[in-house]
Amino acid sequence: MNLKDKVILITGASGGIGRELAKVLAKEECKIVLLARRGPELISIESELKLINPDVFAMKCDVSSRQNVKAVVHLSRELFKKIDIAILNAGVSFKTDPNNFDSTLAEEIFDTNVLGVIYFFEELIPEFKKNGGMFVGISSLADGRGFPKSGLYCASKAAVTLFLESQRIELKPFNIKVLTVKPGFVRTAMTAKNEFKMPFLMDAEKAAKIILKGIKKEKRIIQFPWQTVLGAKILKLMPDFLFDKFAAKQRKITLPKGR
Ligand SMILES: NC(=O)c1ccc[n+]([C@@H]2O[C@H](COP(=O)([O-])OP(=O)(O)OC[C@H]3O[C@@H](n4cnc5c(N)ncnc54)[C@H](OP(=O)(O)O)[C@@H]3O)[C@@H](O)[C@H]2O)c1
Repeated sequence: MNLKDKVILITGASGGIGRELAKVLAKEECKIVLLARRGPELISIESELKLINPDVFAMKCDVSSRQNVKAVVHLSRELFKKIDIAILNAGVSFKTDPNNFDSTLAEEIFDTNVLGVIYFFEELIPEFKKNGGMFVGISSLADGRGFPKSGLYCASKAAVTLFLESQRIELKPFNIKVLTVKPGFVRTAMTAKNEFKMPFLMDAEKAAKIILKGIKKEKRIIQFPWQTVLGAKILKLMPDFLFDKFAAKQRKITLPKGR
């Protein structure tokens, strides 16, 4: 797919993978709407990208608010007359703690990582049905098993992966493409707080280039790096008793003897 003149919305563009994706997209001569909550970070990336592409605009948006999503889709349409691609990348992650289990973290994770994707489908499906379009949802290779301390995050990514899969098939007759991106560990603010070893940790810049290549090829699933893809497949097939031992060790949890 040639991205020239395509109108692309990208959520979570103020940092990490989203920011790097915006940078590589800006060079493709497309029209870009950068979305996130933090104004100063958005302004900084907008000014940086405007130097190479005048058609880059930033708008504040909390993807967990249906009204916010409605408003930015409306504004983007006013600005560019159409929308071709929505890259739904915004995401949050919090550690769970049995000594202080807090369901408000679950609300924030599911509202952002799951509903923050679904609201864009709601807003864009009618337009995409008429003109064609593409959704690119950023899930994770952590979508296949429940890793201790990351249960809310894994559950949210499993939900988003299955939602995207179903939509990929359901929307195909309308010429609407749905791509799922499943990165392994990428060096960003999200992973900076992880206390466990992250094998094959990749720079966000490299991740963005792989995602861009996958979008151009319209790949159903864009997953990387291959070592982590393989690891995730093995973990998925692993018997539960072995997975328990592996995951407990990796996340530094001491299991009672004999269990
Ligand atoms: N890093 C990894 O290893 C990795 C691996 C697999 C998948 N992923 C996924 O990749 C995506 C990007 O993650 P990242 O590592 O780049 O994280 P990051 O550096 O923490 O960036 C997250 C982005 O999401 C935005 N965001 C968070 N909540 C939002 C909300 N309610 N509304 C709008 N924007 C919101 C943040 O901007 P504001 O705070 O300004 O709103 C920020 O721009 C996420 O979906 C993540 O789950 C990451």
